[in-house]
Amino acid sequence: MKILSIETSCDDTAIAVVEASGGLNRPVFTVLQNTVSSQIAIHQPFGGVVPNLAKREHQKNLPLLLQLIAKKKITAKSIDAIAVTVGPGLEPALWAGIEFAKQLAKDWQKSLIGANHMEGHLYSNWLTKSDKKQVTSDREIVFPAIALVVSGGHTILLKMDSLTKWKKLGETRDDAAGEAFDKIARLINLPYPGGPEIERLARAGNPKAIAFPRPMLKDKNYDFSFSGLKTSVLYYLRDIGFTDVVSFRPSLKRKKLLVQSDKFSVADVCASVQQAIVDVLVGKTIRAARQYGAQSVLLCGGVSANKYLQDNLKLKAKSLKLDFHCPTREYNTDNAAMIAAAAYIQKLRKKKLPIAADATLSL
Ligand code: KG4
Ligand code: ZN
Repeated sequence: MKILSIETSCDDTAIAVVEASGGLNRPVFTVLQNTVSSQIAIHQPFGGVVPNLAKREHQKNLPLLLQLIAKKKITAKSIDAIAVTVGPGLEPALWAGIEFAKQLAKDWQKSLIGANHMEGHLYSNWLTKSDKKQVTSDREIVFPAIALVVSGGHTILLKMDSLTKWKKLGETRDDAAGEAFDKIARLINLPYPGGPEIERLARAGNPKAIAFPRPMLKDKNYDFSFSGLKTSVLYYLRDIGFTDVVSFRPSLKRKKLLVQSDKFSVADVCASVQQAIVDVLVGKTIRAARQYGAQSVLLCGGVSANKYLQDNLKLKAKSLKLDFHCPTREYNTDNAAMIAAAAYIQKLRKKKLPIAADATLSL
């Protein structure tokens, strides 16, 4: 079936068209169209996403993206169903997508499937692009698998026995990994979103320069905690006399970025922070893979765009002879193609989510 999917849970407006086929043992997803309109520039002055601004932008962007899709000769006739993210996410932002999807489903007389954003991230590992010759065996993921789902709002470790059967081994007790990247970036006056900025600056830094803590790495459980790391960075900056430290509250004014002084190198701070986060994520994921006899390791969610994380996790997984999977660049961060995949699996499972925003919907 061909699914037109809509994603508006945070600050990316996205519409995709995905051809889905196959059963739960071997679903095949071919992405025919994948459009995303980023709102980063709009939220950047506030240091984070402003929900009502996001909603307004989604309402503006959705018809434009639909027009783009229509230009590729995709119309009511070529679509079998419409899918929309119903949660988790920012409630006003979610409603923008849901209202738009409801109207479109009515106008086009199609069924509407509500999808879970986090299931979308999980299934992003099964997406393939239509312009490449599709090799389904590439996407044949062997179970049991350990999946690390790391985004701006979530850090979850799952043991998957099949595409639809999983157990949550642990999750973050406070800040998510992406949130930690974003908040720490703000402390050193880097723009939102902080993850890509920290990764970029870290390339020139020494990851061993500052010994930031590895929170909960040694704990026996599979939970995470990143707010202590953020506080350590704050104390470090105060101790070295970095006077430009900003509060965690969004600030309209972006201060000038202090790149280097005799005591401070922004590249070293970025490299050391990134190393601390990566050590914890990789350490716990690999320990889980060993304990549960996993055959594969899956990485997904916005933070999976981080190449340093990808490389480190892949290296460790390969050293244990485990398969490693991570979506290609366009499917790491928020996109609508993954929402079509989640909707299709949901349909195969004959499960239905209410078509209403659920900000805290879980996996
Ligand atoms: O999945 P996503 O696009 O949206 C949510 O569902 O939250 O994830 C966004 C998060 C942000 O916190 C952003 O800083 C982080 O993913 N992120 C990164 C990178 N690219 C995006 N974090 C570290 N390194 C990156 N390259
Ligand atoms: Zn996401």
